[in-house]
Amino acid sequence: MTRTMWDSSVGKKTVMAASGLIMLGYLVVHMLGNLKIFFGSDEFNHYAHWLRTIGEPFLHYEWALWIIRVVLVAAVVAHAVSAYQLSRRDIRARPTKYVHKKPRASYATRTMRWGGIILGLFIVWHILDLTTGTVHPGGFQHGHPYQNVIDTFSTWYGNVIYIVAMLALGLHVRHGFWSAAQTLGVGSRTRDRAFKTIANVLALVLTAGFIAVPVGVMTGVVS
Ligand code: HEM
Repeated sequence: MTRTMWDSSVGKKTVMAASGLIMLGYLVVHMLGNLKIFFGSDEFNHYAHWLRTIGEPFLHYEWALWIIRVVLVAAVVAHAVSAYQLSRRDIRARPTKYVHKKPRASYATRTMRWGGIILGLFIVWHILDLTTGTVHPGGFQHGHPYQNVIDTFSTWYGNVIYIVAMLALGLHVRHGFWSAAQTLGVGSRTRDRAFKTIANVLALVLTAGFIAVPVGVMTGVVS
């Protein structure tokens, strides 16, 4: 039987790179949108409302939002399944058992695995917190994200969860973007260096931009 593209390691890495880039694009837009919180509650809540009316009247209320949700869920699932399969393959590829102590995976590999798990858990918490309100502290109000965000960052654990997750996000994006560039065949020495710089800048800007929101609430700049 011939091996299909999907079965190959390169195929799985390509799926990881493509789904990762889709999520990265979403994150840049989400981070920039979140910064609107510094312009006050009217502007932030109006922006959240606009997210639900994109494409009207061609699209129905919330359809564009649902299309984005479906694409993101597909990207998360493809990313996680390929990551799992690649790491299983890593273990199976070893022809004999280690004689001595099993060497640990490289620092980057371990950071990516743990980072991925932390981010997966964070996304579930985040949706239950600020989209459905299930775990939200205080009275969650649909259509009033400004107040909901303030309530979240008025608890110590809200700040800890989000800030830890954003640090994990920075590390994950830094290495992930670089890996994607390798997989998609960037190639030359000078371009390698450029992509490393882009990876560092992206990671730093995303982490700082996201963390600005809890810091804004904690310092009273957003209230
Ligand atoms: C401090 C950091 C963050 C803040 C303050 C924040 C804030 C918010 C808020 C207020 C919403 C609800 C918007 C609305 O219903 O109109 C939201 C939705 C969402 N956030 Fe974040 N976010 C943060 C970080 C992240 C990160 C790092 C990710 C991904 C890893 C993420 C993924 C999402 C997703 C997927 C949704 C959409 C849920 C849905 O409506 O289906 N967020 N965020």
